Amino acid sequence: EKEIKVGLLGLGTVGTGVAKLIEGHQEDLIKQTGNRITIQKILVQDKDKKREISIDKQLVTDDPWEVLKDSEIDVIIEVMGNIHPTYEYLMFALEKGKHVVTANKDLMALHGAELLAMASEHHCDLYYEASVAGGIPIIRALVEGFASDRITKVVGIVNGTTNYILSKMSEEGLPFDEVLVKAQELGYAEADPTSDVEGYDAARKMAILSNLAFHMDVNVHDVEVKGITKVTEEDIRFGKQLGYEIKLLGIAKQNDNLLEVSIQPTMVNKHHPLAKVSGVYNAIYVYGEAVGETMFYGPGAGQLPTATAVVSDLVTVIKQMNLGVNGRGVVAPYRPKQLKSDDL
Ligand code: NDP
Ligand code: HSE
Repeated sequence: EKEIKVGLLGLGTVGTGVAKLIEGHQEDLIKQTGNRITIQKILVQDKDKKREISIDKQLVTDDPWEVLKDSEIDVIIEVMGNIHPTYEYLMFALEKGKHVVTANKDLMALHGAELLAMASEHHCDLYYEASVAGGIPIIRALVEGFASDRITKVVGIVNGTTNYILSKMSEEGLPFDEVLVKAQELGYAEADPTSDVEGYDAARKMAILSNLAFHMDVNVHDVEVKGITKVTEEDIRFGKQLGYEIKLLGIAKQNDNLLEVSIQPTMVNKHHPLAKVSGVYNAIYVYGEAVGETMFYGPGAGQLPTATAVVSDLVTVIKQMNLGVNGRGVVAPYRPKQLKSDDL
């Protein structure tokens, strides 16, 4: 079997999951692709950090060019986060003809169009399933599953950390700060959890989903955002007495030619399925003119759920390499209209 060589940028929560899955599921992956997957190099910040898994020290480097310029590497998996220098690394990799899989919603929400255009120009794949809703294959569902329909609305819980916090506050009466620390320990929160609790992470995910669902260039700055930092234990208790759970909802809906995208803490009737989404789980409703109402549910963050999305993208890339059709599945956002916040 032909060996596929992967360069891994990042060996934190998600990178460790990716390494575990490639090793643990190797035989199943070979059955699907006919190829053995080898991690050729791993980029980290601190080479001496104690790691959760044992990794051959020779593979680990803190020099990005050792990974990016390695001509034997076919696919770059980016799970290091941040916008810079990640954007520059990925543009370089794509320009050199390497396929890219990323979990980075910050980057895709802001620079997705440029990265996809670069991928397209160089006949490379660029997949980003893990960037939205962890283990739920929602991007595939929107791009492929609903390709024949006209989507009218996407509503859901797309941030695991805030759902974990709100659920623990509601179910166990725990204070916000204590639950946030727990979410960080479990690897759910972003390196800077402000983006979770202020709603920016959810806004980035809704910008990505809106691009794909409505074929419009929705920038993260077009999303109206309200996080959960002002939600008090009293609000939650009061809501419960009235029969509601407070959930951080992402809402994207199209009326005529106008698209509204927002993130807001919302009182959800306790009988609605969204009210029952607990812990790190996410749930997304997609409404289509023809299909009607659909719901997707699963773990929205965490090591192995997120790694499944990343490694599934890798499998798609490898299958396309075998068919010689890379780059054809990449669709740059369609831009019939530049939306500005004033339009909303
Ligand atoms: P971590 O902070 O756990 O890991 C980041 C890794 O990248 C670390 O290994 C770190 O090195 C390395 N790294 C960071 N910056 C640099 C740099 N400039 N140069 C070299 N190496 C660098 O992050 P996560 O694994 O949690 O998240 C990674 C990405 O996945 C992010 O984009 C995140 O938004 C996304 N994501 C995360 C999910 C989750 O549940 N955690 C779910 C879905 C997406 P070192 O180890 O030496 O510090
Ligand atoms: N911090 C993010 C969350 C990780 O809690 O949803 C998954 O994207």
